[in-house]
Amino acid sequence: MTHYQSMLRVVFFVLPLVFVSAVPRSDAQDAEVAAGISPQVVADYLHAVIQADRTLYATHVVSRMQDTGTVLASEGWKKRGTLPLPAQMLLLSGLEVKEQGFGLQFRLASLWPIYERNGPSTEFETKGLEAVVKDPSQPYTGIITRGEKKYFKAIYADKAVSKTCANCHNTHILSAKRDHKLGDVMGGIIISFPLGSKQHDVP
Ligand code: HEC
Repeated sequence: MTHYQSMLRVVFFVLPLVFVSAVPRSDAQDAEVAAGISPQVVADYLHAVIQADRTLYATHVVSRMQDTGTVLASEGWKKRGTLPLPAQMLLLSGLEVKEQGFGLQFRLASLWPIYERNGPSTEFETKGLEAVVKDPSQPYTGIITRGEKKYFKAIYADKAVSKTCANCHNTHILSAKRDHKLGDVMGGIIISFPLGSKQHDVP
């Protein structure tokens, strides 16, 4: 390419791009972009935050406190003065979020729960938990109706990322399954939130 050709290229291709990107966006355009976030993407974002919090709590708090002999995490944490288990922390944070009245809900569930209340509560949840056992690579999603409102619901596979996951569940007195292995899908994280904009009803 000659020098002249490359100059032409700058003038015709690159400069217009600079001008186009410099044009300020209108409020309407911004609103369009905001409204355009798909519920699937929102669910992925929420799932990322929930998982990050759980992992960091498990490593930087539970494991560290255990390794330094400071305090253990155990199921009866309230009575025993120990730390809540990561699963309990996730469930507690789900309850806290529910209280805020956005209609956003999330919890841990399984087809083989330690506690029945963590089992599937609808056909959608049963199907979803079965689906993520078969294919953990993607969430099972759908739109459900509760009362007059429509909700987006997504179920993400919850895997035994360490042997301790499987060991604790396999040996728990109330466990409905005793042969979990490292890497198995043990259940799912179920997330749901209302579709539409003005859904913020304070309880
Ligand atoms: C020290 C024991 C222990 C460890 C370790 C543990 N869990 Fe659990 N898990 C529990 C208990 C107890 C519950 C029930 C909590 C509740 O409902 O109060 C639970 C709940 C769950 C549930 C909801 C269904 C059910 O069984 O009630 C899933 C899914 C789950 N854990 C997955 C995991 C995964 C994945 C790991 C590892 C990252 C893990 N657990 C590590 C004890 C444990």
